[in-house]
Amino acid sequence: MARMPLISGNWKMHHNHFDAIALVQKLGYVLGKDDLEAVEVSVHPPFTDLRSVQTVLESDKIGIALGAQNCHWEEKGAFTGEVAPPMLAKLNVRYVIVGHSERRELFGETDDDVNRKVKAVLKAGMTTILCCGETLEEREAGGTDAKVTGQVLAGLDGLKADVVGGLVIAYEPIWAIGTGRTASAEDAQAVCGLLRRTVAGKWGAAAAESVRIQYGGSVKGDNAPALMACPDIDGALVGGAALEAESFAAIVQFRLAAPQG
Ligand code: PGA
Repeated sequence: MARMPLISGNWKMHHNHFDAIALVQKLGYVLGKDDLEAVEVSVHPPFTDLRSVQTVLESDKIGIALGAQNCHWEEKGAFTGEVAPPMLAKLNVRYVIVGHSERRELFGETDDDVNRKVKAVLKAGMTTILCCGETLEEREAGGTDAKVTGQVLAGLDGLKADVVGGLVIAYEPIWAIGTGRTASAEDAQAVCGLLRRTVAGKWGAAAAESVRIQYGGSVKGDNAPALMACPDIDGALVGGAALEAESFAAIVQFRLAAPQG
């Protein structure tokens, strides 16, 4: 498969800029050139850390992409407390997570907001990691497929096929986030396969073939190999295990793990 895996560390609201500098320096040390050629890696620190992390990545020539966790959809204006996509682009941010379930559930982000953010990120020359995922109640009621396809179609509404083909989608079942309870590789593959077919249905085979689909939700070094072996899973969006260099490196180095069962 020609798709380059993307493993992204979503630090959420953890690590001040001093801790952030120490973590990326350590990552630069534990991740070798081979690791970073086989897998694309991004880190998504809090906004206050971005400039410091950018400086370390660039001055130490660490081949890790800089990411953000969120942004506003306007380029500038009277939006107290918000951060505009061009400000992120100026820091050489490459990937912006959009529509994470914590943004949707805790801060009321709608599919409409998410779609506006996706377009704003693209306009500023960056790439989105568009998140989707179902709650436990929705899964138990058989609503997973409708929820995730609805979120992806709404989030990417109005985009052209060649643009969609360059994006990243993250399937993150909400019941698996931060719970230690990960989806089985079979369940994760089933939903990621469905998402790829959804992209094919709306934007065509070429976009579906090149769009990258991450799985997220309690990904760790020990479950990463089975997840990454799935044909429609092209990487991972990692929360808790991304907060320390060793546990994040163990995921990035999933190929080194002993084959499971
Ligand atoms: P987790 O978080 O790895 O701690 O489950 C994943 C995420 O929310 O992106």
